[in-house]
Amino acid sequence: MSTPAQRPISAFVFDAYGTLFDVHAAVRRHAGDLGPEAQRLSAIWREKQLEYSWTRALMGRYLDFWVLTEQALDTAMSIVGVSDAALRGRLLEAYWKLDCYQEVPSVLKKLKDGGHRLAILSNGSPAMLEAAVAAAGIGDLLDEVFSVDMLKTYKTSQDVYEIVTNHFRIYPEAVSFQSSNRWDIAGATAFGFRSVWINRTGAADEYADLPPVAVLNDLQGLLNLA
Ligand code: LAC
Repeated sequence: MSTPAQRPISAFVFDAYGTLFDVHAAVRRHAGDLGPEAQRLSAIWREKQLEYSWTRALMGRYLDFWVLTEQALDTAMSIVGVSDAALRGRLLEAYWKLDCYQEVPSVLKKLKDGGHRLAILSNGSPAMLEAAVAAAGIGDLLDEVFSVDMLKTYKTSQDVYEIVTNHFRIYPEAVSFQSSNRWDIAGATAFGFRSVWINRTGAADEYADLPPVAVLNDLQGLLNLA
């Protein structure tokens, strides 16, 4: 009998924001209107969006990720001292069509051609994910797009990762889960996924007791693990 680590990978499952789609693309597109505070605004926007997901999940007071994205932008604009309703509207509109990282379509295609099932598992609302997938033109490569919305909670609830194993009827060890978010990798490792940290920014490691099986700079290296 094969041990879990030897079992073949049956599905490659991807986090969406920061892993496939560049969350800073919205601000970058309007950086000229934001001036020197652009980068700080983008970082706070993302931090607050995530913070709200964790607090909401712990409270059992779910609001969907789009609402949290709007609230987080309002907080970020207030912190950096930008008050411009039209710019707010443009930033939110851009969030529906974030750039995907350049290697994403070709890596997904090669994994798909290799006979693997591919899916997204994300905090994003179904509508957000549908729009982002369509804008990136990767819809045909994905077998499923799973949103936490069906459970009305957020990662790192272990119930979220279970959506994948329940749907595909596979063991957690048969799932290679990719995320650029180290906290998401911790959650996925706790659940039993073979998690791969896509450390695009060279961030310091965290959650030492919940490590990934591999750390990659981008998705390209997945082709060697498949
Ligand atoms: C997601 C966020 C956490 O897509 O990046 O789930």
